[in-house]
Amino acid sequence: MAEVIEVGEGNGAEAIARAVEVLAGGGLVALPTETVYGLAACADDERAVARIFAAKGRPSHNPLIVHVPDVGAARAVAGTWPAAADRMARAFWPGPVTLVVPRGASVVAAVAAGGPTVALRAPASAITLAILRRLGRPVAAPSANRSQGVSPTRAEHVVSSLGARVDLVIDAGPCAVGLESAVVDVSREPARLLRPGTVDLEQLRAVLPELVPYDGAGDAQRSSPGQDRRHYAPAARLSLVESVDLADAARRAPGPTGLLLLDARPDLPVAWSQVLGRDPRHYASGLFAALWAADAAGCRSLIVELPPRSPAWSAVLDRLQRAAAPG
Ligand code: TXA
Ligand code: MG
Repeated sequence: MAEVIEVGEGNGAEAIARAVEVLAGGGLVALPTETVYGLAACADDERAVARIFAAKGRPSHNPLIVHVPDVGAARAVAGTWPAAADRMARAFWPGPVTLVVPRGASVVAAVAAGGPTVALRAPASAITLAILRRLGRPVAAPSANRSQGVSPTRAEHVVSSLGARVDLVIDAGPCAVGLESAVVDVSREPARLLRPGTVDLEQLRAVLPELVPYDGAGDAQRSSPGQDRRHYAPAARLSLVESVDLADAARRAPGPTGLLLLDARPDLPVAWSQVLGRDPRHYASGLFAALWAADAAGCRSLIVELPPRSPAWSAVLDRLQRAAAPG
């Protein structure tokens, strides 16, 4: 099993020193971020990067996000630093926005899946920022789960998904945001939103008005290969259902059946249920933990009440639609 350090009052310095030691030695460390836990390795270490792909079972054509503490460190990793990158980073870093920019020479090619660009992000987690600063090297970190599974928002998700494939887990409790960062490609004009996040299109456009949404459908040169249709999927068969059809769906689904709800429905007897409410931020922070919990409860079917189709829900809807896609 992986070594786990629970970060509490008083042991922050010890956790930082141990994480830096393992990373510098070519190891894999699960690091907390505000979005999800990341599976980290030095982005300038070819063998360590190869271990990330192996641990996740991730195809080599799917590039990794490189984590840096600040704009200065990002500029050192980028080949060039577009004006749009600068505006976005200054507005949203540290925070849940990833910027795709031209790749420099310091990051190994495998991180970028051999491509001409690299994705960069400064995460808003005090302990992880301290680790990045102390290490002084760029850190590649995809979500710390097996490929195509549900992203981890708690240390125990990492341990149950990756087990001994990760050397060290820094447990700083549940992730506050709970969905992966928005991915914005500023290496081309106009800039494209490749993956929606909790900072929504409107908020991103307030800084970069030319930004366009992009889902890669029908594009031969997929510019974000990680955006495969089925992703974030629990083991339970997930279906998205309108509120009025919940009772019918619950009756028909092969059990044990779970329900993920906006409002309580005591009238529906099922094996497992959770109410995530109607606040999109609160819903986002609890969504992945709920998917993990439904699996742990042994649900064969998971019926998810369809949230409103408004911009504030776009990142949640994106993840739910991918989780519901046939495998
Ligand atoms: O919130 C997050 O972004 C988390 C935390 C750990 O930072 N990381 C994360 O990584 O979600 P991952 O590997 O699960 O997703 C990375 C996404 C994928 O969709 C990938 O295809 C895309 O970013 N990506 C990475 N590098 C890219 C590049 N050079 N060009 C286009 N897309 C890229
Ligand atoms: Mg992922």
